[in-house]
Amino acid sequence: MTHDELAEIRKAEQERKQKYKHKINVCMASGCLSLRSDLVKEAITKEVDKECLADSVLVSKVGCVGLCSQGPIVVLETKGEVREGITPEDAEAIIKSLGAEHDGGNSNELVDGVVLRLDSKFFTRQKKIVMEHSGLIDPDRIEDYIAVGGYESVLDVLTEMSPAEVIDQVTRSGLRGRGGAGYPTGLKWSTVAKAFSSSGEKFIICNADEGDPGAYMDRSILESNPHQVIEGMIIGAFAVGASKGFVYVRAEYPLAIERLKIALKQAEKFGFLGHNIGGTTFSFTVELRYGAGAFVTGEETALIASVGGQRGLPQQRPPYPAERGLFGRPTLINNVETLANIPPIIRNGGDWFAKIGTEKSKGTKVFSLVGKINNVGLVEVPLGMPLREVIYDLGGGIPDGRTFKAVQTGGPSGGCIPAEHLDLPVDFESLQQAGSIMGSGGMIVMDDASCMVDVAKYFMGFCKSESCGKCIPCRVGTVQMHAILERITDGTATMEDLGLLENLCGLAKNASICGLGQSAPNPVLSTLRYFRDEYRAHIEERRCPAGVCKFKNAGKDVYEEDLEVRDETGTSS
Ligand SMILES: Cc1cc2nc3c(=O)[nH]c(=O)nc-3n(C[C@H](O)[C@H](O)[C@H](O)COP(=O)(O)O)c2cc1C
Ligand code: SF4
Ligand code: SF4
Repeated sequence: MTHDELAEIRKAEQERKQKYKHKINVCMASGCLSLRSDLVKEAITKEVDKECLADSVLVSKVGCVGLCSQGPIVVLETKGEVREGITPEDAEAIIKSLGAEHDGGNSNELVDGVVLRLDSKFFTRQKKIVMEHSGLIDPDRIEDYIAVGGYESVLDVLTEMSPAEVIDQVTRSGLRGRGGAGYPTGLKWSTVAKAFSSSGEKFIICNADEGDPGAYMDRSILESNPHQVIEGMIIGAFAVGASKGFVYVRAEYPLAIERLKIALKQAEKFGFLGHNIGGTTFSFTVELRYGAGAFVTGEETALIASVGGQRGLPQQRPPYPAERGLFGRPTLINNVETLANIPPIIRNGGDWFAKIGTEKSKGTKVFSLVGKINNVGLVEVPLGMPLREVIYDLGGGIPDGRTFKAVQTGGPSGGCIPAEHLDLPVDFESLQQAGSIMGSGGMIVMDDASCMVDVAKYFMGFCKSESCGKCIPCRVGTVQMHAILERITDGTATMEDLGLLENLCGLAKNASICGLGQSAPNPVLSTLRYFRDEYRAHIEERRCPAGVCKFKNAGKDVYEEDLEVRDETGTSS
């Protein structure tokens, strides 16, 4: 494929779409699909045919629009409207509405699930780089991606740039890994590029193992626009000198897998994968590997073991994968979102990207907003946006008239940020200073009916079951920490237990082999930092301020106290 051939496909595709007067996009990412948006699309298509409108109305399957709780979602692109909770029975009214003048009213609210305008805050306050085309293109059509400029960066890189120039652009962009640790991507790429391989072989792995509770950004990116990730991988492979790539995707993501398979076949057919890509000497292929759903296999050394056919257990580092990774060769591991950032960075230049975000946290981040929040879904915002804007302007605030209590960021490795920090800018540094982390971008919002000790216990329970058991501080530590939290929430703990819990947190943090054990104490430490009173209320007053925890022996204690009172008054037998 040459630049000219690509431009021809792009032009033909754009012209095809321009012919239509109206465009109707039906979300068919897994959230909407689980609510049978496929039937909605079928009904709308039938209605279009019935009304003989096939020449003027284009009905397309698209990926995530971002409003998960409101599905099935239908976007009337030409009218600038997003319609929620659509059923097949609504098809006729939808087609009729295309003819009607819009009333122009400000329907920014999600009340009654009627209409959200594309010019409402939910959309306009976002900045989309990674998800720019999600919800607008059909993920199963490579032509759709090409029509929006897809695969142009690959051809530019292969025909006009050297690997060093590519790495320079990525370094200038300031992009940091989106998989959790926030390691500078340019630095990682240059380390792999410089690493010596005795066989000359190097690998690239896309980490799509996403296992944090409440996080589904990577799944959505893959379901909505897999080509952007594949394009990022090809550019990464060229930059570091890898000839073979793997996408390690969890088997519980069947739709993402299906769309990846289709996209890989198309990329190969169009000559972006395989031998002599773009008529150059560069050759590169990609294979899929499936994770069985263990959280720990997302850790890079465990992931490498798993891709290599071994049990997914973490290894002590160094050596780092950049030097000795898959099959002992230098290996570049990047997260799905990190790789999806690459084509736009190459297209617009590293300096363009570096202007977005904060001084040390560049670009945007995709967050999944879940929990006690009105607009459950995915948002992409420039780094540095205050938490308050994310929760209220985009998330639409807290439902049922309740108040915001905290937001848990960074999954089991992160922590809870309380209301007093609502004006905190969301970036790598600020979140860390506040005792949490960005992690992969899960945001679990809690209201005043949430018990923070119970929340800490939930995450510790998760780490306890997901610990691989290889090292004692994590294997035993998580079990013991969970047991103490259990005692606190059932009313049998003492203040000494609290001291023991804090000691164990320090031990697991400092002595565990991998990130799972090292970060398992974070939800406990952050809730202790901001909600110590709640721990004390559980232990000293045997009371759960949020009314969530049920004390095991409350009845017995009350009975005993009652007996004592009656003894003193002489009325007891
Ligand atoms: C327990 C554990 C689980 C992880 N899970 C993931 C994951 O699901 N996806 C991911 O990209 N990174 C995950 N990571 C981080 C990876 O080890 C690695 O840092 C990342 O994939 C590197 O890519 P990046 O530099 O693009 O962020 C996990 C780390 C730990 C310690
Ligand atoms: S995030 Fe939303 S718009 Fe996307 S799949 Fe889920 S329900 Fe559909
Ligand atoms: S810290 Fe936990 S998950 Fe990591 S190697 Fe040790 S036991 Fe396994």
